[in-house]
Amino acid sequence: MFCQVLKESQKCTRRKSLLKVRAMDFITSTAILPLLFGCVGIFSLFRLLQWMRMKTYLRNVVVVITGATSGLGKECAKVFYSAGSKLVLCGRNAEALEELTRELTTSRATKVQTHKPYTVTFDLTDPGAIVAAAAEILQCFGYVDILINNAGISYRGTIKDTTVDVDKRVMETNYFGPVALTKALLPSMIKRRRGHVVAISSIQGKISIPFRSAYAASKHATQAFFDCLRAEMEQYEIEVTVISPGYIHTNLSLNATTADGSRYGATDKTTAQGRNPAEVAQDVLAAVGRKEKDVILADLLPSLAIYLRTLAPGLFFSLMASRARKERKSKNS
Ligand SMILES: NC(=O)c1ccc[n+]([C@@H]2O[C@H](COP(=O)([O-])OP(=O)(O)OC[C@H]3O[C@@H](n4cnc5c(N)ncnc54)[C@H](OP(=O)(O)O)[C@@H]3O)[C@@H](O)[C@H]2O)c1
Repeated sequence: MFCQVLKESQKCTRRKSLLKVRAMDFITSTAILPLLFGCVGIFSLFRLLQWMRMKTYLRNVVVVITGATSGLGKECAKVFYSAGSKLVLCGRNAEALEELTRELTTSRATKVQTHKPYTVTFDLTDPGAIVAAAAEILQCFGYVDILINNAGISYRGTIKDTTVDVDKRVMETNYFGPVALTKALLPSMIKRRRGHVVAISSIQGKISIPFRSAYAASKHATQAFFDCLRAEMEQYEIEVTVISPGYIHTNLSLNATTADGSRYGATDKTTAQGRNPAEVAQDVLAAVGRKEKDVILADLLPSLAIYLRTLAPGLFFSLMASRARKERKSKNS
């Protein structure tokens, strides 16, 4: 009798678990898929709205780009022009700026209304020229919405062989120049309670690698200055974005200065294997359009190195020392 009751109860439990499995099957087949599609739909809608907001933010706004004659700056000019921004292109070479203007205005029409860019020629290492240039920039459209501090110079050399004049020149181009230009344009942004300052820094603004001392120092200073600016400008609703790219395939290494101030004149393997500047410019456009505050545009390895520098500095320093040894050895061989 007892055995029969036990068997019955076991049968009942089995039936119940079978029912449970069937119920689960039903739920997964009927509820999970619609739920999944729902999530994808909401996410796509969110991205679409974000994209539309970004496009609206960039259309008809005055965007100043320094270092527009080459590399990333030139590509930024193309993507912001196509987005309908009113450009003020800056550089040292007036002819190259005019050539870019011609290229832009004769390029394939985009769906949005485009505007003929203005050009302003000045050298970022000349403080007097920067004040005059800021006045000229403001005269172009009457105001500035977005300032992209992109111009820069790189450096290759050992600290022991590098003259302080070279350190100063790199700092003037990459740090004091952009700081002076930003300060000259800020009052008009503050007055309008509207503006966005962008600094194109580098991964080397977050970690320092051997034989790049002046460059890494100038980019660390850039990161620090613009982080302070962001906090101080919040009260005026002025945005600050710092963008830190990894290697980009541009003329940066070719134009780099060496320990004695001469031109490096070679494209390093790392630069040659770097990202396409046109793609990086698209990422810059998206970061600015989304009003992001601090953006790293690099592969996994450099991004991990930033965390390593913070979490395991000892290990990071050993790796950099070993990199310096290797580079010295390859130069001597
Ligand atoms: N390429 C990379 O691997 C990489 C990686 C991370 C960050 N970045 C940063 O990206 C930015 C753009 O560099 P890029 O790679 O496009 O290099 P690039 O092709 O050499 O362009 C540099 C631009 O800066 C301008 N410039 C240099 N010195 C100047 C000065 N004293 N006054 C005014 N303009 C000056 C140059 O103008 P001229 O034509 O007159 O020389 C040129 O338009 C830089 O801030 C750089 O540090 C580059």
